[in-house]
Order: sequence, then structure tokens, then C-alpha cells
Amino acid sequence: MFPDGTSRVTIDRSSGPVYIDRGMGSYVFDVDGRRFLDLNCNFMTLIHGHAFAPVVEAITTQLHRGSCFANPTESEIELAELLCARIPRLDRVRFVNTGTEAVLFAIKAARAFTGRSKIAKLEGAYHGAYDWAEVSLAANPDNWGDPAAPNSTPSYRGAPGGVLDDVVVLSFNDVTGVRQLLSLHAPQLAAVLLDPMPSLTASQISIATLT
Ligand SMILES: Cc1ncc(COP(=O)(O)O)c(C=O)c1O
Repeated sequence: MFPDGTSRVTIDRSSGPVYIDRGMGSYVFDVDGRRFLDLNCNFMTLIHGHAFAPVVEAITTQLHRGSCFANPTESEIELAELLCARIPRLDRVRFVNTGTEAVLFAIKAARAFTGRSKIAKLEGAYHGAYDWAEVSLAANPDNWGDPAAPNSTPSYRGAPGGVLDDVVVLSFNDVTGVRQLLSLHAPQLAAVLLDPMPSLTASQISIATLT
């Protein structure tokens, strides 16, 4: 039914994905009744852990008032004000559903503001499934070329050449090289994508079996 057995490839692990039945606090329980300490917590979106009572209560209350509207609501204003108050330099907000959408809208906004089409990103960094953000996600020694100016490599067969041409790939941890490439391409760059906490393959393997 699902390609590779799951609907989300990032959770496909060596011997097969662990199917979760429920979560509580810092633990998840799989369909076979095993308990796991969840060091991932849905890629860190669940900062309070699973089924945190105040969150369950707030969501339950809202469900009784309706959960999905085609109109704006006061609660989105409240949340936006809270975020702006807490995050320095944040003064305008657009809510989206996924990180992929956030990145794609940020790239489009940067292009619209600057009138430029190129973006720069670090080789191997994951920024979601937007074509330009995916470039050189899985570059390897056979195709990454010169580390001083890495190739833009496609993340899937048939990726349009124009997409590759519009991405400047930077080498991770090479500050001098990054400075040089950014200086070289600055006049064409709309934005630089940077994840201060990049996800690496090893760090994604983060569910530890306890019992
Ligand atoms: C840095 C970064 N950007 C974008 C994304 C894409 O987010 P989503 O899976 O919600 O589309 C992720 C997802 O892990 C991410 O880690």
C-alpha cells in the first residue's frame, strides 16, 4: 500500500519502521506493546512530550468550537502577537502547515523582494521538498565535484536543469570557501538557506529502546 511500508520515508529504519500505538510524556508505545523513550518527539515539535494535559485540554476545547475555517480567527492573531513578542526582529507572520511550505514561501518572498532567482544552500542540508531547497541533499563523492565550489546535484531523476542552475551549493563547515562563493554570486542571490541545527542521518536515529 505504502511505498517502502510507510507514508514518511524519514522514519523508515533498518529492520523496518516502528508502528506507534500511543504516546505519553517522553514515552511512545508500539503496536506490540513495547515502550520506547522518545528522544525525537516528532522531530522536536512536541516540546512538552506526548499527550501533555494542557495541550489536550486546549485542543479538545477548540474541537468543540470547530477546528477548521476558511476565515481568519482571533486565535491566530493572539498566537502571532505572542510569537512577535518573544522572537526578536519578528514583526510579520504568515502561518503555513509544513516546513516545506515555510521554506518555499520564504524563497518566493526573497525572490520577489530582490528580483533575483538564485539561492544558496549548504551541501547535504535538508530544507523540505521544494525543488530548489532539495538540490544537493544527497550529493556523494561521485557527483559533488570540487569541494571549493560543489556541483548542484539533483535529488531525483529528471530534476529540471534550470533548478540546478539557480542553486549555489556551499561546503559545510568551510567558512572561507562559503565567504568566497557568496561574494562571487552575491549579485544574483535572493537568499541563503541556513539551518542552525542541521539534521544528519545519524541524528535521526534517535529512538532508544528501554523495555
Ligand atoms: C530544516 C528543515 N526545513 C524544512 C523541513 C521540512 O518540513 P516539513 O517536513 O514539515 O515539510 C524540515 C523537516 O525536517 C527541516 O528539518
